[in-house]
Amino acid sequence: MTATGNAPARSSGPSYDEILDADTHPVNPVLRLDGVDDIGPVTIPASRYTSQAVFDAEVEHLWKRSWQMACREEHIPEVGDAYVYDVVGLSILVLRVTPTRIKAYWNACLHRGRALATEPGPVGDVIRCAFHGLEWHHDGTLAQLTTSWDFPHVEADKFCLPEVKVGIWEGWVFVNPDPDAHPFEEHLGALPEHFAKWAPGGKYVSAHVGKVLPVNWKVAQEAFMEAMHVIATHPQIMASIGDANTRYDAFGPFSRAISAGAVASPHLTWTPTEQQIFDSLTDRRLDGEPLALVPEGMTARAFAAEGSRRRKSRTVPDIDTYCDAEIVDSIYYTLFPNFHPWGAFNRINYRFRPVGRHVDRCLMECIYTDDFAGERPPPAPYVELGLDAEWVDAVPELGVLARVFQQDTLNLPAVQRGLEAMAARDGSLTLTRYQELKVRHFHHLWEQQVPPGS
Ligand code: FES
Ligand SMILES: [Fe+2]
Repeated sequence: MTATGNAPARSSGPSYDEILDADTHPVNPVLRLDGVDDIGPVTIPASRYTSQAVFDAEVEHLWKRSWQMACREEHIPEVGDAYVYDVVGLSILVLRVTPTRIKAYWNACLHRGRALATEPGPVGDVIRCAFHGLEWHHDGTLAQLTTSWDFPHVEADKFCLPEVKVGIWEGWVFVNPDPDAHPFEEHLGALPEHFAKWAPGGKYVSAHVGKVLPVNWKVAQEAFMEAMHVIATHPQIMASIGDANTRYDAFGPFSRAISAGAVASPHLTWTPTEQQIFDSLTDRRLDGEPLALVPEGMTARAFAAEGSRRRKSRTVPDIDTYCDAEIVDSIYYTLFPNFHPWGAFNRINYRFRPVGRHVDRCLMECIYTDDFAGERPPPAPYVELGLDAEWVDAVPELGVLARVFQQDTLNLPAVQRGLEAMAARDGSLTLTRYQELKVRHFHHLWEQQVPPGS
């Protein structure tokens, strides 16, 4: 389809707004919010994904100066519980210091630098370094200097653990190593308004799986920021996803895509029946659900939403106040630089970060958050898959989506390889204008933070 007049080019097929018009329930107005639909570069130097110099600039200007999700509040429920967040050689200790207060410190003893904690868990009544036994109170003030007579040069009341800024949103604990960081609320922008009804703070971590990938962290996360790849990477789901007519918007510090579920891809050259659409959706989304017959005159989309409403009514008593789109569609947000919470009833949250200081190695984590009835269950233990493991090894944790992640990550080493070749001739990526808006928006923010020439 070509643009007419000043109208921007869009795929054939119904627009996402038209799909919303057919919803069987009042539509959450957040889904109709218009953001910016054209922002950021359409060409990106390949070296941004391959150069050690660029990576080092990211360490200085991005990782040391960004708000980044470290853990969930539920990972540290009791006073004295700690979580260790590591990125590019920065190690940060996140600690619950009172029932209502969380603080973070550089995870390094002020004596000879030992990491104060090496894994999550309770630190005890004080933070005690395991090397020579120096101790700090939870609030970061010095508790005890081993052989204090030998530290005449240390002013005990000033020998506090250096702090790292903390921000909390909907159960997610963020840290920012920059003492002059811009306010956390500014970093979130309107994100809290978008998620207000979905209240992810009231959910719990039902699965947490990480996988090491042999690619730059941006290569990995950008594979999860558009639906353009469905046609080539996940052709088996095309009967039940609005891929080419996905809606994309940028809202200041974050971006969003919404791909309608239980509708046929505009790419299809045949017209599936409502039953075929429903069967395709069942196959890809509903673990172990028996096949059902779509009633005459009903759409697969309405039928899928109705079935989910019924199943969710136990944990979500006001389930009838949610529209079909909130139940059936993929609603995927990206908060700069590396956090991807999905909206409504989507359980997915991704986080991507480099492993050590390797330009071509990263950790992709998938954190499921789910509703629960009664007492909050403990968060699922973290499972890490190494470089040679496969996402399908995590089927017990991730269910059918493990197969989809497998397809996504199969491309990635070949992407990194091609980018190395492209960088060798000083080449650049050429992005689409609309479908890769989230990628473009990310790079728009990246370019504001990492100096030119990096
Ligand atoms: S390094 Fe921590 S007490 Fe010596
Ligand atoms: Fe994918």
